[in-house]
Amino acid sequence: MDSQRRVVSGMRPNGRLHLGHYHGVLKSWVKMQHEYQCFFCIVDWHALTTDYASGAEIARNAQDMAVDWLAAGISPSSANLFIQSQVPEHAELHLLLSMICPLSWLERVPSYKELQLDAQHKDLGTYGFLGYPLLQAADILAYRAGVVPVGADQLPHIEFARDVARRFNHLYGSEEDFELKAEAAIRKLGKKSSKLYSSLRKSYQEQGDLDALNTARALLKDQQTITIGDQERLFGYLEGGGRLLLPEPQALLSDTPKVSGLDGGKMAKSASNSIFLRDTPAEIEEKIKRMPTDPARVHRHDPGEPTRCPVWQMHQAHSAEDVCQWAEQGCRSAGIGCLECKAPLIEAIKTELAPLQERAQDYEQNPDLVRSILAEGAEHARDEARETLVVVRQAMGLNHR
Ligand code: TRP
Ligand code: SF4
Repeated sequence: MDSQRRVVSGMRPNGRLHLGHYHGVLKSWVKMQHEYQCFFCIVDWHALTTDYASGAEIARNAQDMAVDWLAAGISPSSANLFIQSQVPEHAELHLLLSMICPLSWLERVPSYKELQLDAQHKDLGTYGFLGYPLLQAADILAYRAGVVPVGADQLPHIEFARDVARRFNHLYGSEEDFELKAEAAIRKLGKKSSKLYSSLRKSYQEQGDLDALNTARALLKDQQTITIGDQERLFGYLEGGGRLLLPEPQALLSDTPKVSGLDGGKMAKSASNSIFLRDTPAEIEEKIKRMPTDPARVHRHDPGEPTRCPVWQMHQAHSAEDVCQWAEQGCRSAGIGCLECKAPLIEAIKTELAPLQERAQDYEQNPDLVRSILAEGAEHARDEARETLVVVRQAMGLNHR
C-alpha cells in the first residue's frame, strides 16, 4: 500500500451539483482517478452533523450526488465511489480516535465557531458537530491516504487530520528500542542503499528537503531484502518518531479559479444563482438571459465595462478566446447588445454540459445500476478500511482472540 498514491475526498449530499462543483472539483477528480487509487465518499454522516433534523432528504440527495458524479465522468471502474454510512469502519475509527483527540483541538477548528454563528436557527451545540473534523479525519485515515484534494476552506481540517495521525503514531507507533531496530534495518538495506537512505534522511530532517523525503520513500518501496516490519520502521524513522501506523495526509489544493455565480457572487449550492449540471438547455438559456449585466448599460447604445459584468466573468470561464475578445470590444464600444453577448455563452454552456447530461440520463433511468455501483464501491472501500482497523485496534490494545 503506497499512501502517496491514494486519494480520499468527500462531499456532503445536500443538493444537486452545479458548474462551480464541476470546474472546481469534479474535473480534477476525473483526472485523478487515472493517476491515483481514489476513494470518493458521499458523506451522509457529515450532513447529519448540521442537518440532523432534516434527514428526509439525505438518501435522495446521496443518489442524486452519485448521478452527478457519474455524469461528470467519475468512472466506477477507475475509482471507488460510495456512501460513508455504508462503510461502518469510518465510525469505528472515529470512535477509537476520539479516545486520543484533545477537546481543545476540536474547539479551535475555525469552522466550529464560524458555523455555529452562521447557523443560529439550529442548535449546533452538539457532540456530533464538535466531532465533525474528527469524523473527516477518520474518513481519510481509514484508507491511510496521503493525498486529499480539497478547497482552501478545508485546509484546517486536513491539518487537524495530520495532527491526529501524528498523535496516534506518537502514542502507539513507538516500540522499545525503536532506534536500534531502525539502525539495524538500515544495515540490512545493503551498503549502497543504506548510505543513500541515511543521507536522504539527514537532508530531510536537517533541511526539511521534501525531495529527499520522497526519494527515500521511493527507495524503501523498491526494497525486496527487508521485512515489511523493517520497511515500516524505516518509513517512520525518516520522519522522526516511531513506526508509521497512520501516514499524515496532505491537502492538494485545486488551482482552478472559483466559478462565479449568475449574480457575480460565488456560485453557491442550492442558490438560485447557479447553473446545475442537470439543468435542461431551456433552463440554462432562461437563467443566462435573466442574468444582470453592467448596470451602466441602461440603453443599447450605452457603452459598458465588462469587468463590472457577471456575464463577462462567465465568458472567461466558458467561451473561447476570440469570443471573449468579441464580447469585450463589443461591450466597450456598444457594438453589441447584452442579449447578443449572452447568446454564444448560452451555446458554450449547453455544449459543455451536453455529454454530461446524456450520461446523467442513462443513470437516472437506471437507479438500480447507481445503487449497485455504490454498493460495490462500499465493498471495496470496506476491504481497505478493514485492514487499517486491524492495525489500529491492535495498536490500541484491542487484540482480542
Ligand atoms: N468536510 C468536507 C466538506 O465539507 C467534506 C469531507 C468529508 C471530506 N470527509 C472528507 C473532504 C474527507 C475530504 C476528505 O467539504
Ligand atoms: Fe455584460 Fe456583455 Fe452586456 Fe457587456 S455586453 S454588459 S459584457 S452582457
